[in-house]
Amino acid sequence: MSDSRPYRSVLYIPGSKDRALEKAKSLPVDAIIFDLEDAVAPDEKANARILLAETLAQSGYGQRIKLVRVNGLDTDWGADDIAAFAQSSTDALLIPKVGSAADLDAVAALAPSKDLWAMIESPAGILHAEEIAAHPKLKGFVLGTNDLAKDLGAQFRADRLPLMTSLQMTLLAARAHGVICVDGVYNAFKDEDGLRAECHQGRDMGMDGKSLIHPAQVAITNEVFAPSDADIELARHQIAAFEEAMAAGQGVAVLDGKIVENLHVATAEALLAKAAAIAELEAS
Ligand code: COA
Ligand code: MG
Repeated sequence: MSDSRPYRSVLYIPGSKDRALEKAKSLPVDAIIFDLEDAVAPDEKANARILLAETLAQSGYGQRIKLVRVNGLDTDWGADDIAAFAQSSTDALLIPKVGSAADLDAVAALAPSKDLWAMIESPAGILHAEEIAAHPKLKGFVLGTNDLAKDLGAQFRADRLPLMTSLQMTLLAARAHGVICVDGVYNAFKDEDGLRAECHQGRDMGMDGKSLIHPAQVAITNEVFAPSDADIELARHQIAAFEEAMAAGQGVAVLDGKIVENLHVATAEALLAKAAAIAELEAS
């Protein structure tokens, strides 16, 4: 699959829950975070590691990207988690509470062949997001907005204004270094309108997708983060209008009273590539 591979829906599954592990095989999610960290109680950590290693050794997750969220190296479980998945077929290890590029160096030394993703969920992580994004092993960010709000002392608000600087600094770092950026979870998993609004906000900011906690959140997220039929239609018209202008010896086109320049064409082409990648994924 191309670079435009979708990361619309990224579902957390507690590594200790065998029914959820099974259920995910039939859910239309783009990626799964198999969690050994905060979704697993301390007493269950060792068993969850074994269950997850056995589950992932068999296939069944198809084209879904598989990320394993290990415990941090500053805990009793981190080194064993990393060792258990260092040679696995998972796409990457997701490292919690990353505060600096050095945190990733420490993991990379234990799992040299694995790609890494980072949870950005602490003040240090936000302030060092750029060096983290620039790490040679780093492929993606997941915002940890619950931990972040806790560390900031911020209140949860529907407009997420208290988190906005952090969200945008993370996105800036991701875009500066060409890595994926997945938005934080929406806690009220039965509130569809609230989820939809937060998905729209994240999408409009430029997030690639949203991390999810429950299967009921998948359909809305997939819909909002996919180009709509109207988006696709507009992109095609922009490309056609620009080509026509070029053929007439002009560098700029006008479509419905708005200018279309080559940069708009690049955006339109990226949108069509993303739509094609989603169609390819959904057909498989
Ligand atoms: N992934 C896959 N399947 C899930 C799931 C998930 N995250 N959450 C629930 N399911 C499954 C359940 O196993 C159940 O399937 P079953 O009928 O085959 O047993 C079905 O979806 C319905 O679940 P439901 O009864 O509505 O939810 P619950 O009350 O069992 O669990 C939560 C609610 C929030 C505890 C649960 O969704 C969860 O653990 N989510 C992940 C939390 C997490 O990972 N947090 C860390 C990151 S923030
Ligand atoms: Mg966290």
